[in-house]
Order: sequence, then structure tokens, then C-alpha cells
Amino acid sequence: MTVTSVEVEPAVSLRGDLAVPGDKSITHRALLLGAIADGESSLAGLGVSEDTLATARAVEVLGARVELHGDRASMGGVGLRGLRVPDGPIDCGNAGTLMRLLPGILAGQEGRFELRGDESLSSRPLDRVAEPLSLMGAHVETTEGHAPLVVEGRGSLEPIRYELPVASAQVKSCVLLAGLYASHGRTEVIEPAPTRDHTERMLESAGAKVRRKPTSAAVWPAERLAPLALEIPGDFSSAAPFLVAATLLPASQLRLHGVGVNPTRTGLLTVLERMGARVAVFNRRPAGGEPVADLEVAHADLVATTVGVKEVPTLVDELPLFALLAGMAHGESVVRGAAELRVKESDRIESVKNVLRPLGIRIETTHDGFRVRGIPSRPKGGGVVDAAGDHRIAMLAAVAGLVSREGVRIEGAESVAVSFPDFFAMLESIAVR
Ligand code: S3P
Repeated sequence: MTVTSVEVEPAVSLRGDLAVPGDKSITHRALLLGAIADGESSLAGLGVSEDTLATARAVEVLGARVELHGDRASMGGVGLRGLRVPDGPIDCGNAGTLMRLLPGILAGQEGRFELRGDESLSSRPLDRVAEPLSLMGAHVETTEGHAPLVVEGRGSLEPIRYELPVASAQVKSCVLLAGLYASHGRTEVIEPAPTRDHTERMLESAGAKVRRKPTSAAVWPAERLAPLALEIPGDFSSAAPFLVAATLLPASQLRLHGVGVNPTRTGLLTVLERMGARVAVFNRRPAGGEPVADLEVAHADLVATTVGVKEVPTLVDELPLFALLAGMAHGESVVRGAAELRVKESDRIESVKNVLRPLGIRIETTHDGFRVRGIPSRPKGGGVVDAAGDHRIAMLAAVAGLVSREGVRIEGAESVAVSFPDFFAMLESIAVR
């Protein structure tokens, strides 16, 4: 892919109406479960991006049928145990969710499967899924804890009760998916803090037996999964850059339609409220087993706040944006217990600092988070920043440019396509200059 540099000019405000693309986490799960359901699934409102296309291609090479038409898909599932060994390795691209969830399903198949990723994904930890799957009796090999990963299913697995060493929805989901293939009994995952529960919700919709508690989730072996008929809500994580920009820019008034507001995802709303932001959530409704709403956001002055370890999973992908909010709030803000940020698509503690400091934000990093001394005025901007090959960092840089006095040039801006290919076009459609 060609590396693109994008100039983002300062804006006066954000005004208008938007609908962001479908949720990436839910889209991955829908494609994976649609592949192992019995028969025809129909999915609408898919978040089509490089990450989710990697999942669509992966399930195709494994033998499922995927017909994509814009943001809709018809799928032919092959049944729980019907996936076939492809001719070569499965390419997961940049998609951590695919690389962590798929092995849970492959552990229940017959045969030897190899998963590969791009350079960034190949540096991210995989022991976290290899360990529980091995405990369940699958044969899993990593490359010194990283991709390439080989998983060899032997048809049936042992159930486990697994305490997650880190709060990770990806690891929880991997173990729960493998639990569908256990020879008997309950597979349970205990969480140090609640993480996104899309897998549990979707498994329930597909007819699997699932039990959920505030700090754990369990599944029982399944004979079959029912096909899905899902309308996927807008991605809260894709709405977040607009929520943050509209909060920070004077005279902004923005409506975001059909956004997923699953409480395991909307920690940013709680944090924004604590800071004094003006975000209204209305038209709450269910869609595809998930809560959805419209959001209206207007400019507000902000005060500093602290985000602690229990809250981190509910806004893990929004913490880079929180650093910018904090940079323009009254007082000192702190994030603790977020060491997981160091093993995302980039080391997000370092890349947030590398983007925000040159623009004039006073941020100090710690081993598991950062501190920001806010100044309630526009940061200077004016620099060139590197997206570090990370879609969320590219979007952070764009919002920082918009709210700055001199704008910003983003190198590697093309990385937004990993989750949100139309991000820059949508941003320009609502920016008032
Ligand atoms: C995801 C879970 C989170 C998140 C990632 C998507 C998912 O990762 O950061 O972008 O779809 O389950 P962890 O659960 O590993 O923290």
C-alpha cells in the first residue's frame, strides 16, 4: 500500500448529521459465527474495512461462502465442525481480533491450521490464547509467543475454568468459542474487569447455552449454531473521534445516528460526562441483540479526571482520544492500569505521546498509562506526525489537527482503512472552516 500523508486544517466547529460504519468487533464475530452456523445467515450494516475483509477472506478459505454487497453479506455456514484446512496459511493482516478469536474455533476442527499476520500483528502477544487452548487439549504453537501461530484441533476439547491474566475480550472470546467444542460440561472465563460482551450476546442469539455474571462468562458444548439475521449497529469506536472533536470545538452541534451503546464499550461517555461534556443519548433501541441509540454532542468546557484499571476495558480503544480531551481540560488527568495499550496495533502509550507532544500537549508517559496537564485552549499544532501504522493514532492525529491552531500533517494516514476507510471524507463533510 502507498503511504499517504494528509493535511488536516483547523476547524471552527463540527456541525451536521452522521452515521458511522458498522461495529468492527461485532462484524468480525458475525462473519466467524456465520461461517460455523448451520446454513444461510444474513448480515446488514457490516463495518467493511481492511480488518473485517481479512476475516471474510479467512472464513472463505476455510470453506464458508461469503457474498458481500456493500455493507450487507449473505453467508453459507458449514456447521460447527465443517471448516476445511486451506491450501496455505490464513492471512490475518493487521486484525488482532481475527488472530485471537479464530484459533478458538479452529481448535475444535480436525486438521492443522496456520495463521499469519502483518508486521505489527506479528509483534503482538499470542501466548494469551495459546495457553488456555493448550489447557483445553488443543495443540498450539506460536513463534516465540507471536505469529505465525499453528493450531491443530483434535476434534474434541476439555472444558476449563480460566482466570484471564489480563482483561481481554479477545482472549475471553477465544476460550468461549473453544468451549462450544468441549466434550462435556461448562467452560468458564473469569475476568479481572468486565470487557466487551459481543461474543456472549451473539452466541446466545445463535442458540448456544451461555451464562453471564458480572465477572465471568460460561458456555456449554453446542450441537449446532442457528444462522444469524443481524443488523449491526454503528461502531462506537468510530463515533468517538467525532464525539471528541465536537466536544472540543466551540459552537459544535453534531448528531450521530444508530451508534452501538453497549455499556461494555461506552466508557468514554461516562468519562466525558465526568469531565463536563454535553452528550445526549436518545432513541435507545435494541438491534441484533445489542443496544443502539442516537447521540447528540455539543461543545463544552472540560475538567480533568482519572481513569483507573477497572474502567480501562470500557474505553480501551478510546484512551488515545482521552489524552487529547485531557490536554484541553482544566487540571491534571491520569490514566492508570492501561499497560495493554503497549501491545495494541502500536505501543499506544508511546505513539500518543509522539503525536500530542509536538502539537503542544503536556503529556508524560508511565509504564501503564499517562498523565496530562491540560490547558483549556487550542494546542498550537503545526507539526508533522507519524500515525505509527495504527488506525486509532491516525484518527487521534486528525482530531488533534482539527482542534489545533495550525493544523497537522499526518504521515501514514492510510492506516485509517484498517477500521474506517471513509474517515477523512466524513470528517471533512461536517467540518466548518
Ligand atoms: C476487541 C477487544 C479489545 C480491543 C480490540 C477489539 C474485540 O482488545 O482493543 O480493538 O473485538 O474483542 P482486548 O480485548 O485484547 O483488549
